[in-house]
Amino acid sequence: MNKIGILTGGGDCPGLNPVIRAVVRKGINEGYEIIGIKNGWKGMIENDTIPLDINAVSGILPKGGTILGTSRTNPYKNPGDIEKVKVNFQKIGLYALIAVGGEDTLGVANKLISDGLPNIVGVPKTIDNDLSATDYTFGFDTAVNIATECIDRLHTTAESHHRIIVAEVMGRHAGWIAIESGIAGGADVILIPEIPIDIEEVCNVIKKRHARGKTFSIIVVAEGAHFKEGTFVTQEQKLDAFGHVRLGGIGEQLAQEIEKRTGYETRVSVLGHIQRGGSPTAFDRVLGTKFGVKAVELVQNKKFGRMVALSGTRIIDVPLQEAVKTLKTVDKELYEVAKVFFG
Ligand code: F6P
Repeated sequence: MNKIGILTGGGDCPGLNPVIRAVVRKGINEGYEIIGIKNGWKGMIENDTIPLDINAVSGILPKGGTILGTSRTNPYKNPGDIEKVKVNFQKIGLYALIAVGGEDTLGVANKLISDGLPNIVGVPKTIDNDLSATDYTFGFDTAVNIATECIDRLHTTAESHHRIIVAEVMGRHAGWIAIESGIAGGADVILIPEIPIDIEEVCNVIKKRHARGKTFSIIVVAEGAHFKEGTFVTQEQKLDAFGHVRLGGIGEQLAQEIEKRTGYETRVSVLGHIQRGGSPTAFDRVLGTKFGVKAVELVQNKKFGRMVALSGTRIIDVPLQEAVKTLKTVDKELYEVAKVFFG
C-alpha cells in the first residue's frame, strides 16, 4: 500500500523535474516509497525503474528535461505490451502510479484505468498548452518566454537589414505558443492553425507597414498553421506510435511566398527544440511543484482516474477523460486581441 510510481512520457518540457521533486518530497513526508519509472511507458513495459529518495531529487528544481528520461512509447501499439505493464505493476509492487504527460501519455493512462489498472492519477504537461480541463500546463510559460526572447532578437536584425523575418514556433495543432509569444514579442502578424493563412492579407499588412516607413516585419507562424488552400506542412510522412506526423516547414513556404509577392527580402528562423530545453521559469517551477504535491494528495485520498489541473489560480482535480477528450485550441477572443496589433 505504500509504493507510488512516477513516470514522465511524451516530449520533455521544463517543469518535469519540479514535479518529480514535489512527488518525492510530499510522498516521503506522507510515508510512501517513491519509484521512478524510466522513459515513460517504455519503463513499465520493460520494468526499468529507479528508487527515488530525497537525495535523488536534490538540486533538480532548476533543471530542464526529466531525470527519469522519456519516450513516445505507446503500450497499446504492440500486442502483449499492456499485459507486460500490468504484470510489472504487480512485480514492482506499486500501489499507485502518477503519470506525467500530455494527451498521449494521459490517453494511455485513461485507457489503462478501464483496462484493469485503476490506481492511476495524471499530471498535465506540455509546452503546447493544448490539454483540456486545465487553464495551463507547465512548460508552456517557459516555451513562450524563450520564443518571446527570440522574437525580440529577430526584431533588431530584421530592422537593421530592412527584412521580413518569419519565426516558426512549435505547438502542434494549437496556436498557443504562437499567439502568446507573438503578442508578447510585438509580432506584426501571427498565424495559427485555428485560422487558415490568407497570404494576400499577410502581404497587404507588410506592404502597408512599408508605406508608413516600417521597412521590416516580424511574422510569427505556428508549425501547424496552413494556407487557406492547403493542409499542414510536415517534415516527413512517418507517423509516431500515437499516429502523429512531424510538423514543420510552413515558415519556409510562407517566406518564399511573401518574398515572391512583395519583393521584400525575407528570412526564416525555425525556433524548434530550443523552445523545449533549458531551465523552467519561476511560474513553471511553482506550477509543477503544486501539481506534484496535489498528485500525491489524490493518491492519499484514493481519487484515482483523476488529473490535477489549474483553474484560475487554484489547483483542482478533474476526470482524466475530460483532459484527453478534445484538444484545447486558441479562442477567437484572444486572436481578436492579437489582431489589434497586426500591421
Ligand atoms: O508536443 C511538444 C512538441 O514539442 C510539439 O510542439 C512538436 O510538434 C513536437 O513535440 C516535436 O516532437 P519531437 O520532439 O518528437 O520532434
